[in-house]
Amino acid sequence: MTQTIPHSMRVISTNEKMSQACREAVKPIGLVPTMGALHAGHLSLVDRARADNLTVAVSIFVNPAQFGDNDDLEKYPRDLEGDLELLRRHGVDLVYTPTVDEVYPEGFDTWVDVGPLAGKLEGLHRPGHFRGVATVVSKLFNVTRPDRAYFGQKDGQQTLVVLKLAKDLEMGVEVVVMPTIREPDGLALSSRNVQLSPEQRQAAPVLYRALCRAYRLWMDGERRGDALREAAREELQAEPRVDAIDYVSVAGMETLDELEQIEGRAMVSAAVHMGAVRLIDNIVLE
Ligand code: PAF
Repeated sequence: MTQTIPHSMRVISTNEKMSQACREAVKPIGLVPTMGALHAGHLSLVDRARADNLTVAVSIFVNPAQFGDNDDLEKYPRDLEGDLELLRRHGVDLVYTPTVDEVYPEGFDTWVDVGPLAGKLEGLHRPGHFRGVATVVSKLFNVTRPDRAYFGQKDGQQTLVVLKLAKDLEMGVEVVVMPTIREPDGLALSSRNVQLSPEQRQAAPVLYRALCRAYRLWMDGERRGDALREAAREELQAEPRVDAIDYVSVAGMETLDELEQIEGRAMVSAAVHMGAVRLIDNIVLE
C-alpha cells in the first residue's frame, strides 16, 4: 500500500524565526527570492531548487527599495494566498514573508552598492534599482544562509549583479541562473504581464521578436554591435503599441559595456514601455 506523507510548509514572517528555521533545516538549503505573484518562471526555479537541495526556502517580499516611484510599487501585483497554494503544491519547506518594517526597520542605514555594472542599462533608467536589489538579496542571504540561490535569466542584468555581489562579498552561496520561460508566442513570463491590456498583450511579443532578429543576424555571422542594435530597434519601432524604447543593447557579459565588435559571450537586451507597463527581455549570444 502506498502512503502519501502530507507535506508541511512553514510560513514565517520574522528574521529571527526564519534564521532559526534555516539553522535547524536539513542542508543543503536552496533559496528562491521572489516578489510574489508567482508564475511558471518562478516555479521552474522552485522545481530546480527542490531537485538540488534537501530544504527549499522561498521568500516573498515586494521590495520598496528597488522601485523608482510609488505608483509602480503600489500597482505591483500581489496574491499571497495563491502563491502559498502553488508553493505548497511544489513541495516548498519554508516561505519567508517579512513585512517592510521587518526588512527595513527604523534606523536601517546600510546599503549594498555593486558599482559600475549596476549603473548600466536598467541602472541608468531605474536609478537606485540595483542598490535596492543588492541590499535585499544580501539581507535574504544573511537571514537564510542558503547553499544555493536561484534567479531567472529574464532579469539578465540582475543575475550578473547578484553573481558579482556573491563573489565580491564572499557570500558562500552558489548562484544558479535558470533559463527564461516564455509564453507560446515568445513573451517572457513576468508578473507585470497581467497589467497589459489585451491589445498590448497581443503586441508584446515584438520584444522577443526584436531580440531574435538580432540573434539571427549574429547566427549568420554579423559581428558588428551596431548592426544588431539597429535591427532590433527597427523591429520595435515598427510596432505602434511600443510607446517608448528605453534601450536596445548588445553588451559584453563581464561589464555590460556596449560592444562595437562581438567576440566572446554577449547579451542582447531591451526595455520598452507599453502604456504604463515596462517590459524587459534578453538573449545571450554564446
Ligand atoms: O527578481 C525579483 O523578483 C527581485 O528583484 C528579487 C531578486 C526577489 C529581489 O527583490
